[in-house]
Amino acid sequence: MFEKISLIMKGSRSVIYSAIIKQTQQPVAIKMPLENADPTILKLIDREIFLLKKLSHQNILSLITADPTEHSFVTELMDGDLFGLIDRMDEESLPLKERWRIVRNLLLPVSEALTYMHQNKYIHRDIKPENVFFRYSNSDPLSFDVEVKIGDLEHGAMITGQSGRVRSKHLRGTAQYLAPESAKNKLYSRESDVYSFGLLVYAMTTLNLPYQGIKPTQIINFILPYLHDEIDISNFTVADREHIEAEHGEFSDFSWTFLCSYQLSPFWVDEMPPDLDSLAKNCCQICPKNRITMATARETLMTEIARNTELTAAKEDSETSSTELHVSAKALIESTHGFLNPSTPQTKSTEPLRPLRCNAASW
Ligand SMILES: Nc1ncnc2c1ncn2[C@@H]1O[C@H](COP(=O)(O)OP(=O)(O)OP(=O)(O)O)[C@@H](O)[C@H]1O
Ligand SMILES: [Mg+2]
Repeated sequence: MFEKISLIMKGSRSVIYSAIIKQTQQPVAIKMPLENADPTILKLIDREIFLLKKLSHQNILSLITADPTEHSFVTELMDGDLFGLIDRMDEESLPLKERWRIVRNLLLPVSEALTYMHQNKYIHRDIKPENVFFRYSNSDPLSFDVEVKIGDLEHGAMITGQSGRVRSKHLRGTAQYLAPESAKNKLYSRESDVYSFGLLVYAMTTLNLPYQGIKPTQIINFILPYLHDEIDISNFTVADREHIEAEHGEFSDFSWTFLCSYQLSPFWVDEMPPDLDSLAKNCCQICPKNRITMATARETLMTEIARNTELTAAKEDSETSSTELHVSAKALIESTHGFLNPSTPQTKSTEPLRPLRCNAASW
């Protein structure tokens, strides 16, 4: 049935191949459990098949066929994941405004897919750059013009009760992207997906990953002492905040999510543009009920994309007309200065030292 089978990735639980369907010549991806996988892993793959069958959305990976006896399935083939794009954006040192434009365009389809899932009572529970896949729209591997689809639905779940929450027997998802209530009480909801989405916004915008280089157990141990079931942020005094900082100051990257949760805005990285900054903060509120919904996140992104497109068009218009009127040698020299002197600051940047990057493993 398949030809040209080649390995994409061997993970801790499963292995993913690319292949071509002989009859139709369609390129596909095949996901199957590792040899000798235990029943828990097989259940995760079965869960992913179940969800992929239920969900149908242009920004969610589409299932082609599944083999329940082998616990394997075939989906459309993508070109990579957002984790890889973070690295590329970093290497290419894009001007910040261009990076932010790309990031808004990459995040919008993620918010569309999650809005659809949430409206249909499904939650993802493992949103992170590694689980959002892309495909080049015009087969140009240097372009950021890509189709985006969320995948890896192994931890997905359906919300059944009135509370909107699902309590899991085990921790699910990925420590670095976990909402506080999930870390503390293994509670998952639409709001916990929103929290992980906020961290995705942060990671894509700053190219810094939350808690990089810190072990999952350290993250959870760090979270627990500071969490109560329903935290009221107004209870945190300046002294509380100073205490947290004094205790954990050495973990500068590691403590980001808490600094953001505690709304210590001075610690927020300077290079976030205001719209993505407040989007991430509104998603990462420590109290689930204070977080925005995925539908609001989606609307915010749509509005900002439209606003920035208008601003760019208006700027291009005014630049064109002023060039027509005032072309002079001086203006030409000044306009090329930024290109000739790459050290010309585009905007204030206080980028923290970035530790070595490696992808974050799900449980
Ligand atoms: N359909 C696909 N097309 C292209 N690449 C894919 C596809 N599915 C998965 N991949 C690649 O393989 C990686 C692992 O896939 P996936 O997240 O589904 O597996 P996993 O075993 O659950 O991995 P992990 O435990 O690391 O999350 C993805 O991050 C992506 O880079
Ligand atoms: Mg994955």
